[in-house]
Amino acid sequence: TKELPLLGKKVVVTAGPTRERIDPVRYISNFSSGKMGYAMAEAAVSLGADTVLISGPVDLPKPAGVEFIQVESAAEMLEAVLENFDNASMVIKSAAVADYRPKEQHTQKMKKKDGDSSIELERTTDILRTLGEQKKDQILVGFAAETNDAISYGMSKLTNKNLDYIIVNDVTDPNGGFGNDTNVVTLLTGMGNQYPFEAMEKKQLAKVLLETIVADERPISDD
Ligand code: PMT
Repeated sequence: TKELPLLGKKVVVTAGPTRERIDPVRYISNFSSGKMGYAMAEAAVSLGADTVLISGPVDLPKPAGVEFIQVESAAEMLEAVLENFDNASMVIKSAAVADYRPKEQHTQKMKKKDGDSSIELERTTDILRTLGEQKKDQILVGFAAETNDAISYGMSKLTNKNLDYIIVNDVTDPNGGFGNDTNVVTLLTGMGNQYPFEAMEKKQLAKVLLETIVADERPISDD
């Protein structure tokens, strides 16, 4: 129906940071609070979707009406996303996935030593790129967190990762990005349209973004 355009559709949302363990007491992560992703999940529920929220470690209450999957690392997030990909209509990747993880995970706490130290890092799997390679008729919505040339970097991520939409935020904007209750974004579509949005509460913005995507030209498949 018009009020519930995502009724009966499965929408998978990822949110929050990932944590990449160095040893049992230390990790590498980022400042994502999960607010944007949780707002996207709530927006999907409000449009009628069967919503799966795959979340890294955050301090937010679980939104009502979602199937909730807790993960820690990029590898766990990849696995959970792939398990839910086949019958999804849409995947929204709001999570700030770590691009690197320690090459070695120590099973015991690393001891201090004299002098400097360094940790060797290796790349994590790019979850969105993997989905972009595997997708059939799923709509893929990425985010891009940029500090400069946001639109052109966003555009190249849209193309390179074979996405249908990308939501670009300049994370240096004082009204947006990591941790804030508000965000300032531009939605780029695979068809070449650009929708800039004013600074808005993430909850309100998420709803407008999803409504804009749903109203966009490409029909959303049922399975
Ligand atoms: O959580 P908040 O505090 O509310 O902050 C919101 C936010 C700034 C984290 C969010 O709006 C946002 O921009 N999320 C994406 C952050 C990000 O990782 O951007 P990126 O440009 O590094 O990655 C581009 C896309 O690839 C993202 O959709 C990301 O989920 C995906 N990716 C990245 C790396 C990786 N290994 N796998 C991925 O799928």
